[in-house]
Amino acid sequence: MKNIILISEIHDSSRKLKVAPESVSYIDAEMRDKLLQLDKICCIVKNGDSIGVSLSEDGNESSSGSSMSLLAQTLPLKTTQLGDPEFIKFHGLKMAYMSGSMANGIASENLVISSGKVGLLSSFGAAGLLPSIIEQAINNIQKALPDGPYAFNLIHSPSEDAIEKAAVDLYLKYRVRTVEASAFLGLTPNIVRYRVAGLLRNSQNQVEIKNRVIAKISRAEVASKFMAPAPEDILNKLLEEKSITREQAQLAAMVPMADDITVEADSGGHTDNRPLVSLLPAIIALREQYQEKYGYLHSIRVGAAGGIGTPASALAAFMMGAAYIVTGSVNQACVEAAASQHSKELLAQADMADVTMAPAADMFEMGVELQVLKRGTLFPMRAKKLYALYKNYESIEEIPLLERKKLEEQVFRNSLEEIWSQTKKHFYERDPHQIERALNHPKRKMALIFRWYLGLTSHWSNTGEIGRETDYQIWAGPAIGAFNNWVKGSYLEDVSQRKTVEVAWHIMTGAAYLYRLRHLQTQGIRLPFSYEAYMPKPFLEIPS
Ligand SMILES: Cc1cc2nc3c(=O)[nH]c(=O)nc-3n(C[C@H](O)[C@H](O)[C@H](O)COP(=O)(O)O)c2cc1C
Repeated sequence: MKNIILISEIHDSSRKLKVAPESVSYIDAEMRDKLLQLDKICCIVKNGDSIGVSLSEDGNESSSGSSMSLLAQTLPLKTTQLGDPEFIKFHGLKMAYMSGSMANGIASENLVISSGKVGLLSSFGAAGLLPSIIEQAINNIQKALPDGPYAFNLIHSPSEDAIEKAAVDLYLKYRVRTVEASAFLGLTPNIVRYRVAGLLRNSQNQVEIKNRVIAKISRAEVASKFMAPAPEDILNKLLEEKSITREQAQLAAMVPMADDITVEADSGGHTDNRPLVSLLPAIIALREQYQEKYGYLHSIRVGAAGGIGTPASALAAFMMGAAYIVTGSVNQACVEAAASQHSKELLAQADMADVTMAPAADMFEMGVELQVLKRGTLFPMRAKKLYALYKNYESIEEIPLLERKKLEEQVFRNSLEEIWSQTKKHFYERDPHQIERALNHPKRKMALIFRWYLGLTSHWSNTGEIGRETDYQIWAGPAIGAFNNWVKGSYLEDVSQRKTVEVAWHIMTGAAYLYRLRHLQTQGIRLPFSYEAYMPKPFLEIPS
């Protein structure tokens, strides 16, 4: 047995507590069990030379029992107390926790619905999907969760405005009331239209916001756009085309573009790889400036994403002032995610360093990269090779024959002529403009051919394309490695047991538990290191 140690006399040494001696635990397992009862006051008491843990139901000293020194105590802390209660209330949730969008429907209907059923917010991965598929998802999710909570991703498409617009058309048509807006570099008429078309004046003459926006950002310049009211030039344009009313345009001056700003640090998928500890406080400070400037009735909340996959990382975010946390990488390995079993198993084996940056399909020519898994797949290496060739040569024809042969045999498994005709077919259906731009431009043509590989590899990872396992493009950040290390030896080590909701509950419960340890530490109590481990246990049912 390891001992609880009093490391400093911060406490009032004269404070006494009367407790029934049999209610004090001195054995590790029992003491941990008491600390885990998050709804009770937990007291560290000294009886002679022994230090133990006792629960106090109401915090008052009992009139009977033995008098012991009260060294420290920690108050009840439920998972619902972490983060900003306004976030919980505004979105109608049980906890200040959200699972973020994952493109191509990886954040599936099933994932969103199972979360929503227990009061957790998940965002459907609408990016990359055709409008008809998004429409179907809206219908199914709304049917299962008529009162929410759920969100849909509104992703900025720099080269495909029609796609962004089509998503907004659907969200307005079906009254999707929460979007997770992401990848925006600035505001577009589409996101402004979504926001402002949902404004109305209520009976107390206040602005009522029907269309909630959770904007995910990784830079202060973009955050500031969402923290300000909608810009006048875009409002005028929308007024002209009668997409909003004059009253809505006036109301828009009184509210920010977003209700919530998610600060995304080093995450899976698109990321600037910034550390959360540096970025989050800066954006919280920025929020204060905007609140002071505009005096909004309801202050914007700032949440944290990127790298969160364990109780400790969740607690760190909350302690830095995050109003809520958002996870992503850990959810892709969960049973509800629409990723293949093979990809989930690779994710479950990943360590923290098993991720790397690789060229992104959507912004390949610009040299934009995203974070992917590198263990068990050759995708990052092959994608980087394609980008190097793109940088070095002006056309497919310029690539040395030997190099080209290698590409055709190993990467494309087809002649590049055949790949070009498949690429043309794809873009003629989706965005013919891309082909027109490439016809007299050999470098653009080369980019489109290479994007064939970059686009399909993520699709293969989701559908589980047999024979292409070594090419799977699996978006993931270091959070998955941290998660795997944490759950080693627990039921969640087994990928078939990972349910999004249970993962969320354990991260939040573990964070509340760890908070108690830190709180006791500030009172001079050092618990044995083994106490730091919060091990997830299967739920009989999800606690309410
Ligand atoms: C597989 C995968 C796909 C993602 N796709 C999207 C997306 O389409 N839109 C989006 O806003 N964020 C996307 N993200 C980011 C997540 O919503 C979330 O913000 C991020 O994963 C949190 O960081 P973490 O990966 O460190 O947990 C994706 C993340 C992953 C892992």
